[in-house]
Amino acid sequence: MKFSDWISLSPSNILRWTPAASPSSSPVPPPVFSPEISSSQVEDEPFMSPAHHHELKQQLDQYVDEPAKSSKKKNSEENKSSFVIEMEPKSEGSTVVLAWEDLCVSVPSSSSSKGNDRVIIEGLNGYAQPGEVLAIMGPSGSGKTTLLDALAGRLPSNTRQLGVIHVNGRKQTLAFGTSAYVTQDDTLTTTLTVKEAVYYSALLQLPDSMTTSEKKERAETTIKVMGLHGARNTKIGGWNIKGLSGGQKRRVSICIEILTRPKLLFLDEPTSGLDSAASYHVVNRIAKLSRQYRMTVIASIHQPSSEVFNLFHNLCLLSSGRTIYFGPVSAANEFFALNGYPYPTMTNPSDHYLKTINKDFDEDMEQGSGGKLTTTEEAIYKLAEAYKTSQIFQQVKLQVSNLCKREGGILEKGSQASFLTQSVVLTRRSFLNMHRDLGYYWLRLGAYIGLGLCVGTIFLNIGTSFGSIQARGSVLLFVVAFLTFMAIGGFPSFVEDMKIFGRERLNGHYGVAAFVVGNTISSVPYLLMISLIPGALAYYLVGLHKGYQHFLFFALLLFVCMMLVESLMMVVASIVPDFLMGIIVGAGIQGAMILNAGFFRLPNDLPNPVWKYPMYYISFHRYANEGFYKNEFQGLQFPNNQIGGPSTISGEEILKTIWQMPMGYSKWVDLAVLFGMVVLYRLMFFSIIKLSEKKKSSSCLNR
Ligand SMILES: Nc1ncnc2c1ncn2[C@@H]1O[C@H](COP(=O)(O)OP(=O)(O)O)[C@@H](O)[C@H]1O
Ligand SMILES: [Mg+2]
Repeated sequence: MKFSDWISLSPSNILRWTPAASPSSSPVPPPVFSPEISSSQVEDEPFMSPAHHHELKQQLDQYVDEPAKSSKKKNSEENKSSFVIEMEPKSEGSTVVLAWEDLCVSVPSSSSSKGNDRVIIEGLNGYAQPGEVLAIMGPSGSGKTTLLDALAGRLPSNTRQLGVIHVNGRKQTLAFGTSAYVTQDDTLTTTLTVKEAVYYSALLQLPDSMTTSEKKERAETTIKVMGLHGARNTKIGGWNIKGLSGGQKRRVSICIEILTRPKLLFLDEPTSGLDSAASYHVVNRIAKLSRQYRMTVIASIHQPSSEVFNLFHNLCLLSSGRTIYFGPVSAANEFFALNGYPYPTMTNPSDHYLKTINKDFDEDMEQGSGGKLTTTEEAIYKLAEAYKTSQIFQQVKLQVSNLCKREGGILEKGSQASFLTQSVVLTRRSFLNMHRDLGYYWLRLGAYIGLGLCVGTIFLNIGTSFGSIQARGSVLLFVVAFLTFMAIGGFPSFVEDMKIFGRERLNGHYGVAAFVVGNTISSVPYLLMISLIPGALAYYLVGLHKGYQHFLFFALLLFVCMMLVESLMMVVASIVPDFLMGIIVGAGIQGAMILNAGFFRLPNDLPNPVWKYPMYYISFHRYANEGFYKNEFQGLQFPNNQIGGPSTISGEEILKTIWQMPMGYSKWVDLAVLFGMVVLYRLMFFSIIKLSEKKKSSSCLNR
C-alpha cells in the first residue's frame, strides 16, 4: 500500500490494533483495559505477609487494571530470582496516580517571525500508576526531558504549557520537592565517597522516627541495590579528581533519590553510561522497588535491551514531540506490525522502533511488508495517525479520564527530617567537603601566608616615626582590601555547592534555611584559620600596636570581613549562578567598594552624589578600615615633624585630621556594623532563593 493510498483510507478502513499475543517472548499478556478487578484475581507475591496482602488488594481495587495485574505475575517469577530487596513494611501514605491530557509545551520562536511558537511536545495523553514503570522513548531531541519536566513541574520559564496534569485526580502541577527526579546530568559532591554521599543524604531525607542505624542500613541496602557495593569507598570525583566512572555516578544519583522510596520518581535516562548488564539490573531493581513500595516511576530511556524493555509496563514513544505510541509494552510490536513495520526477527524491538521513527538522518527506508520505499517522516506521520485512530488510543483516553475522576490524597513534600537534623547533617557534610576541597580554603591559606610574609618583610618593624603613619595606613588597607578580595578564589567551589543545593532543594531534601545554617557554621573554623595564621604573621612582623587585645581585635575584624565577603559572594551566586560571571561581578562590586574605603580618596573629598551617599555608607571596606585604624592608632603617640606644632601627635588626632574618621563611636561599633552586614547579606541570599522558588512554582501553577 502506498503512503498516499493509506492516508486516503477512511478511519473505518484503517488497520486497528487488536489484543493478541505479542510476537516477542514478553511474559506480559495483552492488555484489557478494565478499570475494575475482583480481589480473587490478585495473586500472592511470595514475600508478602497476609496483612500486606490485604493492603495491596485494597490498593489494587482502587487503581490496578489488568496490565498491572499481569505484571504481578511476572513479578512473582522474578522474585524467585537472584536479588531480593529488603523486607520492610510498606510505608504508609497515599500512592500517586499521574494522568495528563492534551499536554503541549512550546517555546517562543527565536527568529523574527513573532507569534509562531516552536512546539516541543504536542497533544500528549497518558498516565502513570503506582507499582508500574512507564518508559518514555524516542530519538534524542524528541521531547522526553521536556515531558518529564512538564510532569514534574520543572519547565524552564521560557516555555509555555497547555493541557492538564492530574495528580491523584486533582488538577494540579507538581511543585518543589513533591517528587524525586534524577536529572540527565549528575550533580554530586565530588569530594565525598559513595558511602558518605548516600549516608548523608539518608540522614537528610529520612524521618527522625527512624534511628541512625536504620538510616545507615537503608543507605547500605540502597547502595547494594544499585550495585555500588564495590565502589562504596571510592570518591565520586570530578574534573580535578578521578573517581567514579560515568555509569557509577549515574547510579549514585539514582541511589540518592530512591532512599526514601518516593511515591513518584522521575528518571531521565537512568541507564546512560551503563553497560547492558548494569542497565538490566538497575531497571529491574527500580521496577521491583516500585512494586514493593507502590512507587509510580516514569523513566526516559535510550536503547534498552530486549530484557530491559520487557521490564516496563507502559511505553510512551515520541517522535518530534508527537505520540507514536502510548500503551502496554507488549502491544507495541503488534501496533508496529499492523501498520506496516513489523520488527525483523533477531532484532531488539526498541532498536526497531527508534530506527523507524528517527528522522534526524533521514534516508529512504525499506518498508517491511511490501518492500516499497517511504521516508521516515512519512513513517512517523503514518504511525502517529494510526495511533490516533487506534482502539488503544481510545482505551488510553478512557483510562486517563477514569483516573482523572478518582480524587486521592494530596501529595506531600519530600524530606521528613527535622530542621535541626538537616542543619547538623549539612554542617558536617559541608565541613568535610571544605576540608577535602583544596580550592575552598587550603589554597587561599597558602596564598595568605605567602602574602602575610610579603607584607611582614616589606613593612618589617614599622616603628613609630612620623613616616610610619602613612605606612600603617597602607598596611592595614592592603590587609582589608586584598585579603577580602581574594575570597573570590573560593567562589568556584561555592558555585559547585550551589548546584548541589539546587538539585537537592528541587527534590525537597532540605530547605534554604538549613543550607544557609550549614554553610555558615561549617565555614567558621576555616575562616578563623585563614584570618588568624596569616594575620598573626603580618601583625607581629610589621610590629603593629603592641598588646594581645589589639591583635585579637585585628584578627576578629579580619574574620568578620572574610565572612562578610563570603556572604556577599553568596548573594552574587544566587543572582548569577555561572562562576565566571560571578567572579567578574563580585570583583567589580568589591573594586567599587574599596574605592570608598576612605583611603584612596579621603571621606571629605568623596563626591556627595553616589560616592558619599550612599556608597560610603554601604561599602563594608569603610567600616573595616575604620575599625582597623581605630584599633591601631588609638593610644599611640607619634613625633610631630611639623614646624611650630606640638612635639608629639596623638593617634586620635591622626584619625580625626589625617584620616578624617568619624570619632563619635568606638571600633566595636564598626565591628558590630560589619557583623550586622553578615547577617543581612545571608538573609538577602535566603530571600532571593525563596522568592525565585515562589516565582517558579507560581508560574508553573499558572501556566
Ligand atoms: N527551554 C527550551 N528552550 C528552547 N528549546 C528547548 C527548550 N527545552 C527543550 N528545547 C528543545 O526541544 C527539543 C526537545 O528537547 P528535549 O526534551 O531535551 O529532548 P530529549 O530529552 O528527547 O532529547 C530539543 O530540540 C530542544 O532543543
Ligand atoms: Mg533528554
